[in-house]
Amino acid sequence: MKKPHHIINKRELKLLRVSRIMNLSGMVAKLINFIKVSPLIVFFPIFALLLSDTVLAGVSTTKHNLSVTGPGVVKAVNQTEVCTFCHTPHNASPQAPLWNHEISSFENYTNYYSDTLKAYPPGGAPPIDGFSKLCLSCHDGTIGVGATIGTKGTIEMDTVANVIESGRLRPGSPGYLGTDLSGGHPISFIFDETLVSLRNAEEDIMHLNWPILDQDVKLYPTQGGYGVQCTSCHEPHGGKGGPGEPPFWRKAAYDDVCLVCHDISSQIGH
Ligand code: HEC
Ligand code: HEC
Ligand code: HEC
Ligand code: HEC
Repeated sequence: MKKPHHIINKRELKLLRVSRIMNLSGMVAKLINFIKVSPLIVFFPIFALLLSDTVLAGVSTTKHNLSVTGPGVVKAVNQTEVCTFCHTPHNASPQAPLWNHEISSFENYTNYYSDTLKAYPPGGAPPIDGFSKLCLSCHDGTIGVGATIGTKGTIEMDTVANVIESGRLRPGSPGYLGTDLSGGHPISFIFDETLVSLRNAEEDIMHLNWPILDQDVKLYPTQGGYGVQCTSCHEPHGGKGGPGEPPFWRKAAYDDVCLVCHDISSQIGH
């Protein structure tokens, strides 16, 4: 059973209808300073000191507050700390900013493919990596939501019928994506000038913008370069999306995220 997780064909149609914005995002982007993502890991402790209060205020009111006081259906039996589900100041996994959650060992995700896609050939999607692996460590449902690696060990989650089973997100539950990602936006591939020239050489498909210089919507490490990851669209601590916009959204409105990378003007009149 496939969940309607960002069914992009329907969404793309919506995107195509937004003819008003043209290439505005590209122009705005050039004015905004490019915030590099690569030094993130090195600077994490400093960032943490500066940002943790703001981040804490943000996360607490979202469904990523999985502590006993969390607002969503998924919560711990008695863990009161909010950040600990994902981060720890000690003994962190080297994979990401002081990461504290077990990483799923699952590898054979079913990836998005279409015959206009240039990023990879049919059946040739590179393995999911980077920050997307962090998200999937809860969202693919293969390991427990409370499966932390720090000194405290696994956090006991409240059992909620049809939502949490053996501590894991169950198929059909809110947030469950599973391992079939073919209905979602492609992730974990390199997005660079080569890809842009390949795609933009064709007339009848929506072109890509380049370079990507936006404050909110960024490229993240993948396959030895930079590309699209879950975190390009979602901000796991809250984000800027208003009511009715996708959850944990990097921008105030749905289209604003897509238009950072996709050049809508290339499709007008088609
Ligand atoms: C191109 C942008 C984009 C990327 C990349 C992306 N998402 Fe989403 N996501 C969306 C949009 C839009 C929605 C809301 C609409 C929908 O569900 O179709 C959404 C909804 C969700 C939801 C809630 C809806 C549901 O089906 O339960 C979850 C959970 C989620 N995304 C997780 C992820 C994870 C994990 C990744 C990486 C594996 C990811 N997303 C990558 C755009 C994106
Ligand atoms: C559900 C998982 C999750 C929770 C809960 C969470 N984070 Fe994060 N955090 C992430 C991920 C994934 C990244 C890396 C991707 C990114 O930067 O968006 C990250 C990155 C960060 C960063 C560095 C990048 C940035 O956004 O500036 C800081 C600081 C941070 N988290 C602080 C916190 C604090 C403080 C809490 C608790 C209040 C918290 N996080 C809770 C998943 C989480
Ligand atoms: C520690 C486990 C964990 C990690 C790691 C995690 N999530 Fe979640 N996320 C959840 C759970 C559990 C829910 C559903 C909570 C509920 O509905 O009560 C959720 C919900 C969501 C939703 C839907 C929220 C809504 O309001 O409907 C989105 C979108 C999402 N996560 C994206 C992400 C992305 C992107 C990442 C990686 C950057 C990520 N998550 C990492 C546990 C996690
Ligand atoms: C961070 C950049 C980025 C963001 C944000 C982004 N995309 Fe993409 N998108 C890409 C890239 C790169 C590709 C791969 C294009 C290729 O390989 O031909 C892609 C592929 C797609 C495809 C598949 C195209 C095909 O030919 O099969 C669709 C549809 C799509 N994106 C829609 C969206 C929508 C809708 C949003 C907003 C919810 C969005 N994208 C946000 C960069 C992005």
